[in-house]
Formats: sequence, C-alpha cells, structure tokens
Amino acid sequence: MQLSAEQLRQFDELGYLFFPNCFSDDEIALMRTEGDAILKLDRPEVWREKSGAPRTAFAAHKFNEVFRLLAHHPRLVAPLEQLFGEQLYVHQFKLNAKAAFEGDVWQWHQDYGTWARDDGMPEARAMNIAVFLDEVYPFNGALMLVPRSHKGGTLAAGHDLSTTSYPLWTLDQDTVTRLCREAERDGEPGIVAPTGKPGSVLMFHGNLVHASAPNITPYPRKIVYLTLCAVSNHITKFNRPEFIAHRDFTPIQQVSDDALVEHARARRVAAE
Ligand code: SIN
Ligand code: MN
Repeated sequence: MQLSAEQLRQFDELGYLFFPNCFSDDEIALMRTEGDAILKLDRPEVWREKSGAPRTAFAAHKFNEVFRLLAHHPRLVAPLEQLFGEQLYVHQFKLNAKAAFEGDVWQWHQDYGTWARDDGMPEARAMNIAVFLDEVYPFNGALMLVPRSHKGGTLAAGHDLSTTSYPLWTLDQDTVTRLCREAERDGEPGIVAPTGKPGSVLMFHGNLVHASAPNITPYPRKIVYLTLCAVSNHITKFNRPEFIAHRDFTPIQQVSDDALVEHARARRVAAE
C-alpha cells in the first residue's frame, strides 16, 4: 500500500489516515480466532484490567505465526516506510481487548511522550498503525483523536501510574481542552473517532493526542496496534520489559501481500 500525494497532505495536516476495509473477512477471521485465544493465556505478556479482564497482549508477533505475518505485512509496513524514508523495526506490538463491559479507559496521551521519556527514542519517527479486529462503533470505546494536535510537538505530561493497570504519560485537562478548541472547525467538535468494520486500518502520528473511553457495551473492541520505528531512530533506554519496548532493531523484511490467506490455506490442508 503506497500513500498518494493527497493522503500524504492529509496526514501532514490532520495527523492521521483511516483506511476502511483494508483486510478481508478471511484475514480478519484468522486474526480474531488467534487474538481471542491469546487474550486467555496466562503469560507475562498478557496484562489485565484491574477487574481481571484482559487489557493488552504484548508481543504476540513473537509467539504467534499469524501476528508475526501481520507485523511484516506490506499493507502496514510499506506506507510507514514511505513516510519515514527508511526501513523500520517493530518497537511494540499490542492487541488491545477493550473487553465487553470491562474494557477500561486509555487516558489522553501522545504515544511519543511515552517512547521518548521511558525508552529514550530520539525523535517522533515512529508511529502506530492499527487494525480493527472487531467492528468499532461510536459506543464501544472507539479511539478518539484530536486532529492537528501533532503539530505542537511533545507536550508536558504527568506519569499516570494509578488510574489504569498500564503506566502512561498523560495530558492534563487544560491541555486537552485547548487542543480540542483549536481543532474545532465549522461548528464541529475538535475530536474525531473513526469507526468501521473489522479489517479497517488507522495510522496516526506519534504526537497525535488520543484516548478511549471504557467499554460498557456487550460489544468487544479488539484492535491490534503495530508500532513501527525508523531503524536509525531506535530507542536508547531499556527501562521497560523487552516485550513492551523491543531491543531488536533488525529491519523488517516484508512478507507477501497474500501471506495471511496462504497461511490459512496451508492450515486447512494440514487439517484435512
Ligand atoms: C493506545 O493509545 O495505545 C491504545 C488505546 C486504545 O486501544 O483504546
Ligand atoms: Mn496510544
């Protein structure tokens, strides 16, 4: 997937791009089955909400073949390589469950705020590219983005160690209010929340301010976040566990575009 000149312009202006229906139903069915199984595992990479429901499974690309293929997939890797103009490595891989009734809040933050402070990442030359595994509705904890908020660089933040089970550098209410006011256009609020079918893809700048509300509906909202970093911009501090902030800076070698479909076919043949 290559970005057009218009998409590059939009990304620069707004700080995000949304691609509905990027992965097929078959590809998503495969990832969904694997994702549900992973979230049930009892291993250090699977973090739970304070309630005990699964919150995030880290580094599934290291122990699951389907997610290994996803982390090397051209539909995710190629546009970010194009943007950064060099090869990439996987800084982080997470499957966020936002479980039915129990998925908890993600407070307002910038991803690069955490990568810089905790991991010593030199510049905001890393980014999340997210794949919806469930349908994201306006009501099941959709990711909320403040358009254009990436333009102000890395903002002052406080280290939130208490409101959720996952430590995060978060923004205060005055900052979020100011950025939302600045993002308002033509009577529209300064927040967007892209919604869509499983298989939709969302990429957003490392400094784009975002958050998500708790999920109090019966509809889970699983999203995979692949965080790709330019190889020359690799992290310099190793404070967090390796499965949260990877230390292997080997450039990603992309798999073929049909790798997931081929994997599903090979499995079916093996099972016959
Ligand atoms: C994140 O910001 O890293 C995750 C937010 C979410 O999954 O809602
Ligand atoms: Mn984030």
